[in-house]
Amino acid sequence: MEAMENIKSRRSYRAFKPDPIPREVMQEVIEAASNSPTYMSTQPWEMAVVSGKKKDRLSGILLELAKSNAPINPDVSPPPDWPAELDKRKHEHGARRLETIGVERGDEKGRETLRLLNYEFYGAPCVIFLYMDGTLGEWSIYDMGLFTQTLLLAAHARGIGSVIQASVTHYAKEIKDFLDIPGDKQLLVSIPMGYPAPDAILNTYRSIKKKPEEFVIWHE
Ligand SMILES: Cc1cc2nc3c(=O)[nH]c(=O)nc-3n(C[C@H](O)[C@H](O)[C@H](O)COP(=O)(O)O)c2cc1C
Repeated sequence: MEAMENIKSRRSYRAFKPDPIPREVMQEVIEAASNSPTYMSTQPWEMAVVSGKKKDRLSGILLELAKSNAPINPDVSPPPDWPAELDKRKHEHGARRLETIGVERGDEKGRETLRLLNYEFYGAPCVIFLYMDGTLGEWSIYDMGLFTQTLLLAAHARGIGSVIQASVTHYAKEIKDFLDIPGDKQLLVSIPMGYPAPDAILNTYRSIKKKPEEFVIWHE
């Protein structure tokens, strides 16, 4: 796929075919992502790639926690408040996602079903957990973001759909325990990956993007 076309057509997928991704394809994608830029070549990224029965067992544990609204313990906390403009976009995103799948705003059960799908990794056959040393800060999170986007684009170039998840890492301690990741690592996101389910209603949702004229100031 041509690079510009790849960048422009990348989007999140939230429904997948059960077909596994061949190990050599995942390896190629991960190797491509390791070419990401990084502060002083520090390359803070570490990852666990989970599939098969192990993924199903982890999903079962997370679903139980999420269903019972167990106390969350993310390694990276969301800001307590968002600037008004961003907060508005957040709400629009939530409302439009529900609308796409025909769930009314007041339909608590429908909303809960959608929330819980996160913990089933949206049915993806494979999920990546990205983490880094716990002593690292913002600059390394920046590097992790660059790595993540390169990973997503490389996967997309091979026909693999993905979605970044912060919600799943609410249960960072339980995930790290299950995957034998040392407790002092910082778990950042999970990324379900798989071949997109072509007819799934969940995959019809498209986010609205800011136009360059809304955020660019040209100086000449
Ligand atoms: C840090 C981060 C956390 C996210 N967490 C979730 C999540 O928990 N669940 C989910 O369904 N999507 C999640 N997303 C995906 C965003 O909702 C999605 O990227 C955004 O709406 C833009 O849509 P697009 O990726 O299709 O362009 C997350 C994205 C990022 C970058």
